[in-house]
Amino acid sequence: MPVRAVLVLMAVLAAACQDNRPQQLSEEIDRGRRLYAANGCGTCHGMQGRGDGPVAATLNPPPRDFRDAEAFKNGTDPSSIANTLATGLTRDGGQMQSYFHLSDRERYLIARYVISLRESSSPGAGHVPTH
Ligand code: HEC
Repeated sequence: MPVRAVLVLMAVLAAACQDNRPQQLSEEIDRGRRLYAANGCGTCHGMQGRGDGPVAATLNPPPRDFRDAEAFKNGTDPSSIANTLATGLTRDGGQMQSYFHLSDRERYLIARYVISLRESSSPGAGHVPTH
């Protein structure tokens, strides 16, 4: 194979790999969004994760507004959030229940969605290209 053909092939492969990543991420976030809805997280946190679900006003401490990463008591990276979902968060009398019945993968996907809500709070960020 001529050198130029090899170079073209490498460039095409590199571009394909790069394009694939946002696509995969948006699929993960979309699956996380559906799990978030199916598991009733919005009842407390609100569907946009702003801490304003229908029962939020009755809770003390209040449910987290996911845009406020500094308010998190545990870590804010995907595995820490997935871990919080496994254990729940009740040490200060809060009513954040444990989602131990979900799989590790499901908790990870929900965590990705929670993080996407934080990222989407700055204008223009977090939008998934649709091309
Ligand atoms: C019954 C209401 C309720 C439901 C349902 C609920 N949460 Fe929470 N959640 C809370 C409350 C209250 C807190 C704050 C607890 C505290 O500050 O001690 C919290 C905190 C959190 C935190 C922040 C953890 C930290 O480090 O501070 C995350 C992330 C979270 N919830 C995600 C979820 C997800 C995802 C779901 C659905 C799978 C969910 N919650 C369902 C009430 C709820």
